[in-house]
Amino acid sequence: MRITLSKQNSKTDILIIPIKEGENLSNQQKKQISKQHILEVESLIENKIFKGKTGESFVFQNIKSSKKSYKSAIIIGLGDKKKINVHSIKKSIASITNHQKKLKADKIAILHENPKEALWLATGIFMNTYKFDKYITKKIKKISEVQIINAEISKEEITKMNTLLESIYYTRDLVNSTSNDIDPDTLVEEAKKIAKENPLIKLTILDRKKLESLGCGAILSIGQSSTKGPYMVIMEYKNEPKKDEKPLAIIGKGITFDTGGLYLKPAMHMNDMKMDKAGACTVLGLFKTFKNLKPKGHILGVLAIAENLIGKAAIRPGDIIKAYDGKTIEILNTDGEGRIVLADAIAYTKKNYNPSKMISIATLTGAAIVTLGYDIGVVLSTDEELAKQIIESGKEVDEPFWELPLYEDYCENVKGKISDITNSGYTVKAQTIMGAAFLKAFAGKTPLAHLDIAGTAWSNENKPGYPAGATAFGIMMFQKLLEKMVVRS
Ligand code: BES
Ligand code: ZN
Ligand code: ZN
Repeated sequence: MRITLSKQNSKTDILIIPIKEGENLSNQQKKQISKQHILEVESLIENKIFKGKTGESFVFQNIKSSKKSYKSAIIIGLGDKKKINVHSIKKSIASITNHQKKLKADKIAILHENPKEALWLATGIFMNTYKFDKYITKKIKKISEVQIINAEISKEEITKMNTLLESIYYTRDLVNSTSNDIDPDTLVEEAKKIAKENPLIKLTILDRKKLESLGCGAILSIGQSSTKGPYMVIMEYKNEPKKDEKPLAIIGKGITFDTGGLYLKPAMHMNDMKMDKAGACTVLGLFKTFKNLKPKGHILGVLAIAENLIGKAAIRPGDIIKAYDGKTIEILNTDGEGRIVLADAIAYTKKNYNPSKMISIATLTGAAIVTLGYDIGVVLSTDEELAKQIIESGKEVDEPFWELPLYEDYCENVKGKISDITNSGYTVKAQTIMGAAFLKAFAGKTPLAHLDIAGTAWSNENKPGYPAGATAFGIMMFQKLLEKMVVRS
């Protein structure tokens, strides 16, 4: 899978010719296609059969071109040129997915001069045509190459996008993998693989025994329901950090399956709960990009890994446990396990690595779906600037985040009656805020932004850029954020 650059269209199955609303073929485009083809396209436009609106497409097959470099061509509409952005481009290119399947395309070329648009068109194709076939014996044929013709894009930009796409596929594969395949033990193996391929990453694995000796009673209390795990994994990446540079910590929830514990989830809500490791898998995918992208700085990736199962070892509602930082937690609801495992990860990272800022990413609350749906991630932050940067970065790559408040009175509501803190609050119903309020208590004065990706990590249907299943939402935002925060010239 790769995006390439080329001056000329060299033997592809499909040539994609994007056209903006109300416009015609550009001179550059005309140079690359046959005369007969130019006439056909122009006639479609003149007769208003093709208007260039977003989502419009028209297929030409059996092209008898003297150039003979493509088997089929598809014109696609890019919509109103004033409204073109990454999101609209993803929508435009989604229209080719069915054609591509029918035509069994292996190589696709894009004939478009605008570098940014062309790159996102190519990216959109790969985001769209991802197919999870890990468990299917007869593998499904996928597109191998998308060639961008004659657009001025730097090699670095192409490498960056290819690296991101590779990580997006990797993360989607991991999140889509079933809980009898990716369990706490095998998820740790993934962290090992990523650390092994990058000498700039130092890996620390805290297993159950080590967690016990450290007093990580929170993550242990969830992990005790399973024979596998729990683990806390720390990937420490350093590339020419400034002198005494404090790390930025990115902390992911890695629940390989969430039954809800004794607060058992209804079956319908349990079915997709292999996706509850998406936060940790996003962190893994992000760290995988470092091999090629080599951002400068000091970055920590922390994974809080466990399975939330039922059985005689499972934690009971009302049990009180002690977290790494000594706080006692009353477990009012065993389904609020994400914040419990993250509590230790946050407290441990804070104490042992003294980070400048922390960002947690987790499929933490069903309420995030009720609040912002499946397309928008939630951010809650004790640091206004950090929230702003996350939102801005997300906007640039079409991974929208919206902020919810860490309302002070709600934050008070995590206080316990017979413990220091509770994991669901007694009265406040704003569960997404309550989740972040709980995490905030463990971050103390260290700035914390919490990303709730319960809605965005998984898609129940095919959407532009996202075939149903795991989305890997967040990787592109993080890469942009690091570019803004960490990468220095
Ligand atoms: N993993 C779930 C949240 C979730 C729900 C993710 C739907 C993706 C889709 C989480 O562990 C959970 O169950 N949270 C509870 C919190 C409550 C018990 C405080 C919830 O949202 O109901
Ligand atoms: Zn849960
Ligand atoms: Zn969960």
